[in-house]
Amino acid sequence: MHNYNSNLSKNILYWYDNNKRRLPWRFISSKKKLEFYTLVSEFMLQQTQIKTVLPYFLRFVKRFPSIKKLARANIRSILKKWEGLGYYSRAKNLHLASKIICKNYSERIPKKIDDLKLLPGVGDYTASIIMAVVNNKPYIAFDGNVKRVLKRFFALNIDDSSKNLKLLKHKSKVFLSKNRHGDLAQALMELGALVCKPTNPKCNKCPLQKFCSFKKSNISFTKKIKKNNKLIYVALCNLRKNKVLVTNKNPSGFLNGMLTVPMIELKNFKKINRKNNYEVLKKELSHNISNSNLKIKIAILKKNINLPNHFWIDKNKIKKYPIPVLTKKIFKAINLS
Ligand code: ADE
Repeated sequence: MHNYNSNLSKNILYWYDNNKRRLPWRFISSKKKLEFYTLVSEFMLQQTQIKTVLPYFLRFVKRFPSIKKLARANIRSILKKWEGLGYYSRAKNLHLASKIICKNYSERIPKKIDDLKLLPGVGDYTASIIMAVVNNKPYIAFDGNVKRVLKRFFALNIDDSSKNLKLLKHKSKVFLSKNRHGDLAQALMELGALVCKPTNPKCNKCPLQKFCSFKKSNISFTKKIKKNNKLIYVALCNLRKNKVLVTNKNPSGFLNGMLTVPMIELKNFKKINRKNNYEVLKKELSHNISNSNLKIKIAILKKNINLPNHFWIDKNKIKKYPIPVLTKKIFKAINLS
């Protein structure tokens, strides 16, 4: 039925068996545990590299060892374990998804891709990798690594328009194995991470070299350099004797739901500071968030303000809250931690 090419899948699976990294969500014999570990790791891996995810993953599953425990936990304790990993909406979606899985699917991962895609935070990529790894169905998950591998393999110098991805998906079916669908999907990712790297691919170490069009094609696949948005914000630091003013509804839109001090774009700050209520420090921070490169100036308010959606927290209780890295940098700059 499937359009598989047994040589392709055999070669890449043989390579995978001998070269895969020993990640904690691989090598699991209990099906229930495999389901939970795959769900957590794939949420973490949505925007983050394996080496960054590893210590977070281990701490996370130690604290929340099953889907039931995760579903029953409160969001603050979950965010505390996610602290520093970024893209915090992933943690909130993972929590919501775990509740739905417990309530509607008796604590087991849904078997149908359409049901998976209804879970918060589960898009095409995550649904596909779960279908392959957990449900052993013939799906390939298209992350950046896999797209690069396939484009090179077929010598397609194309961008990621939906039409092109459809073509790539269609062509990728030649890789499908007879029955090791989870391993095949992961093998393609692993090949992209370890061999078919963005720059300097190690073609002589590649199990697909006999079949691959990349070297023959003389097309150069240079890595596109992402344009970073440069944004300048001012962090409004409002301090009382032993308290600091924070918010979890930042009007700037980023880190929504996580604690920050109020932040405002520089041009708007100039408007509100006509009376010089703020002392602006010389020190400037920089922080990358999504595709933006933020420059943060620190302004200390001389007079207390009260703003809607803002509240005071005790300086010595800061550690109890989940604090994103950006806020930690600001607190450090004003000697709060
Ligand atoms: N990136 C995201 N998920 C992965 C997985 N299961 N194996 C390798 N790389 C990945």
